[in-house]
Amino acid sequence: MGCAREPPRLSGGRRSGRRQPALEAYLHPLRSRPTGALSGSARVPSDKSISHRSLMLGALAVGETVIEGLLEGEDVLRTAAAMRGLGATAERQADGVWRVHGRGIGGLREPAEVLDLGNAGTGARLLIGLLATHRLTAFLTGDASLRGRPMARVATPLQGMGARIVARDGCRLPLAVIGAAEPVPIEYRLPVASAQVKSAILLAGLNTPGETTVIEPEPTRDHTELMLRHFGVEVRVDVTKDGRRTTIVGQPEIGGRHIDVPADPSSAAFPLVAAALLPGSDVTLQHVGINPHRIGLIETLREMGADIACEGQREHAGEPVANLRVRPHRLVGVEVPAARAPAMIDEYPILAVAAACASGTTVMRGLAELRVKESDRLAAMANGLRACGVSVEDGPDTLVVHGTGDRPRGGGQIVTNLDHRIAMAFLVLGMVAERPVEIDDGAPIDTSFPGFVGLMNRLGAEIGPLDGAAAR
Ligand code: S3P
Repeated sequence: MGCAREPPRLSGGRRSGRRQPALEAYLHPLRSRPTGALSGSARVPSDKSISHRSLMLGALAVGETVIEGLLEGEDVLRTAAAMRGLGATAERQADGVWRVHGRGIGGLREPAEVLDLGNAGTGARLLIGLLATHRLTAFLTGDASLRGRPMARVATPLQGMGARIVARDGCRLPLAVIGAAEPVPIEYRLPVASAQVKSAILLAGLNTPGETTVIEPEPTRDHTELMLRHFGVEVRVDVTKDGRRTTIVGQPEIGGRHIDVPADPSSAAFPLVAAALLPGSDVTLQHVGINPHRIGLIETLREMGADIACEGQREHAGEPVANLRVRPHRLVGVEVPAARAPAMIDEYPILAVAAACASGTTVMRGLAELRVKESDRLAAMANGLRACGVSVEDGPDTLVVHGTGDRPRGGGQIVTNLDHRIAMAFLVLGMVAERPVEIDDGAPIDTSFPGFVGLMNRLGAEIGPLDGAAAR
């Protein structure tokens, strides 16, 4: 039912760009004002990708997994609730410290309720993978943003492993997963560079006899592979002329582990760019994950002239971590190669803000995937930057930003369409512009960066509610 191929994204609810009056009262508008230097040291919230995976693998392990530094943002809390719905125990002990008691691979229980993943594409797609090879039926839904996102990319390979997935037209949530009674291993070449699709297949492969292989033409973040190894699963990675082949051997026994989740480089990106742009700044971001498949933004900012130092590099559960010290420098526009997109896929909104302040033109290519994120981020950035006086050209998968070489005009009113990263990127734009920038809704920021406003303001930003704004 509608899971054969990927259609264009749906626009529904507030995604149409016009607010529905009935929802207006629930919006949480914010304004950021032009700011001087930022200074200080901060730890941004923990990595969202690693947090989802730690709860899921903890729920599959036999015994106790202790997670330190779990991201307690909306998206990850939905995954924790889903794992409880599937019979695992996931309890919060203290700030960021969680204990998970798993049910063993193949041991998840049929959930009595619909699993609501909120805004979380990673939560939904990885979970569909997990469920696909369990003998159970589960129903999944999410918010208006997630219900508009394509699921055929995971449904197609998982159906090849024996699962049945019954979805709305266009293979969208709500959908039902009827897990395979006798899963079959597959070798699957990813048609789009997607760590979520790769991970969904590898997680399905855990309860599948034999070897499950994913081939990636462009390597994507490898947090699933690193964590599977950390849990004792045999993972083989071969780099061939065809791309990167990742193979796991199914039906292992995995025991509980200790996991220390580093800070999220995708969240660090917002204070990092603000400090790189604001003269006189000196900011250190502590304990940030610097997995090579996540640091395309740092590489690009350095090419633009930014001064970013990685200090005290170390490793936790196979994940490299460092403190990032950033000081401002004049930035110049660059061409960002399409091949770098998987290593900075979530960072284009904030890179576009840096590009708007740089001198010269920045060309970003290979951005088709941005159209199917929490919102159509390519359109959101192009429209929002124009509303702030920046000259932009957008194509089906390109964004060209003509930098002002100084503070852009600002002054725009931005429609965020339930997209946390659009919200944060434009709040940073308001800090580095001549005039304040307003966003219609800051509530989605909590999905990935709880405490964003407080942290940025402690570093020197001026972000707050609009006068007379309705509180959430
Ligand atoms: C993620 C993978 C990326 C990224 C998302 C998190 C993950 O999505 O945009 O925020 O944790 O695997 P895609 O796999 O769709 O590229």
